[in-house]
Amino acid sequence: MEDFDQFSVTEAVIAQMANTPDARLREIMESAVRHMHAFARDVNLTPSEWLMGIKFMTDVGKACTPFRQEFVLLSDVLGLSSLVNVLHDGTRMESGTDTSLLGPFYREGAPAMALGDSIARLTDGPRIMVFGQVRDAEGRGIPHASLQVWQTDEHGEYDLQKHDPKTMDDRGCFTCDGEGRFHFRSVRPLGYTIPMDGPVGALVTAQTRHGCRPAHIHFLISAEGYRELTTSVYLGDDQYIDTDTVFGVSKALIVHAEMGVPGSPDPSLPSIRYDFSLAKASATDSMSRVGSDPSKLVAA
Ligand code: BEZ
Ligand code: FE
Repeated sequence: MEDFDQFSVTEAVIAQMANTPDARLREIMESAVRHMHAFARDVNLTPSEWLMGIKFMTDVGKACTPFRQEFVLLSDVLGLSSLVNVLHDGTRMESGTDTSLLGPFYREGAPAMALGDSIARLTDGPRIMVFGQVRDAEGRGIPHASLQVWQTDEHGEYDLQKHDPKTMDDRGCFTCDGEGRFHFRSVRPLGYTIPMDGPVGALVTAQTRHGCRPAHIHFLISAEGYRELTTSVYLGDDQYIDTDTVFGVSKALIVHAEMGVPGSPDPSLPSIRYDFSLAKASATDSMSRVGSDPSKLVAA
């Protein structure tokens, strides 16, 4: 029996977990314990501070519903979702479009639409055209790739924030044509503040952060034999393009909705052209999404 000091307690915990049969669980938990203990030593964590931390995480859990994922939001504002995405992109077999956040507003079961349809069915803002091609790493179109799209309306609101949860708007599922091309109509999305009325919003407020995301359109793209791509395109003229609260923007994902874009299927509308590139799937590829439809994590 030894008396623990601030270092030997860490080793004792790791020794007690050392027989964990699942090697990956063992590796993750050993590292998590080492980092959490180092963090407590680093800030000289007091009992009342740790109790505040436990209360905060309890509140985060309580804020989760089938329509809201406060833990994903916490991961997002801490940059952890973005870090996991960058690590994930680093394991690709070949180059591809950058991953960006799935976010808490993704929903399964968005309506299937025909190419050219408008995803904005109940929304009445300035119209835009979005078009492009889903390609492989060599630049060849991937026939019949599927594309899920979701975005805010012209006021910066998702359908979930303004309708009853069963009503879907500003989202849809498309199948690309035989050359991987897609086009759809929409409204010009507006940027928005992340949900600020819960514990994560309280943290962001305490840090005097603005809590905003630049305007964007989300995409979840898949095709047989390719790694699923979760990404977004961001409107470059948004005032928050350089200070996204959840660190989702990368230079390669910045676009502009403008007139005169060559090849636009509707030249009368400001248009965005974006060509996505999918990497081939490897045998060890895991799911690409940090997040999920909230109803999959908390039963209704
Ligand atoms: C979103 O883009 O939908 C989103 C991502 C992270 C936090 C909040 C919203
Ligand atoms: Fe979003």
